[in-house]
Amino acid sequence: MKVRQAVMGDASEISLFLEQLASLGKRSIPSDPDFVRTHYIEHTDNIQCAVAEDEDGTILGLQILKIASEGNTYGVDVGWGIIGTHVKPDAARRGVGKTLFVATRKVAIDAGLKRIDATIAATNSDGISYYAALGFRTYRTPDGKICKYFEVAP
Ligand SMILES: CC(C)(COP(=O)(O)OP(=O)(O)OC[C@H]1O[C@@H](n2cnc3c(N)ncnc32)[C@H](O)[C@@H]1OP(=O)(O)O)[C@@H](O)C(=O)NCCC(=O)NCCS
Repeated sequence: MKVRQAVMGDASEISLFLEQLASLGKRSIPSDPDFVRTHYIEHTDNIQCAVAEDEDGTILGLQILKIASEGNTYGVDVGWGIIGTHVKPDAARRGVGKTLFVATRKVAIDAGLKRIDATIAATNSDGISYYAALGFRTYRTPDGKICKYFEVAP
């Protein structure tokens, strides 16, 4: 498995597995290629958008790290990181998410981030377990969400 920077040409392939997640009830926001481009690959607050790919170049998952800007939709303190992770259903529990976070954590350290927020739907037990396994801890629980943080530089 290799981790690399996402490029605009990845949007269609990413969109396909986001649609799969949606059809499994694991996603409720848009999954089309334009959404992938504007919200993940080239979001204005991006610090990094990384993809993990198989030996044959198949994209297995992506992880986005953004900086929390003034008025961000998650209500996260300005200057924290905000993380999002999406793994192809047939690649789940193979360490894709864990591998992506090794790269993201390095980038967070280089960017001087102190904390990273993960906002997860309270019903999303996969996401909650995943971030807990990486060392994220719950710090607030607004309307149907669990917000966890990761201490980048204690
Ligand atoms: C949550 C998600 C990102 C996990 O990705 P993944 O590549 O399957 O995770 P990994 O294989 O790296 O798992 C790392 C650890 O997280 C925990 N974990 C991950 N998925 C889990 C699950 N479904 N149930 C329980 N624990 C889980 C485990 O401790 C796991 O280690 P282990 O397999 O050695 O026990 C993936 O299931 C996904 O994309 N889900 C849909 C989108 C989503 O919910 N994103 C996150 C919230 S926004």
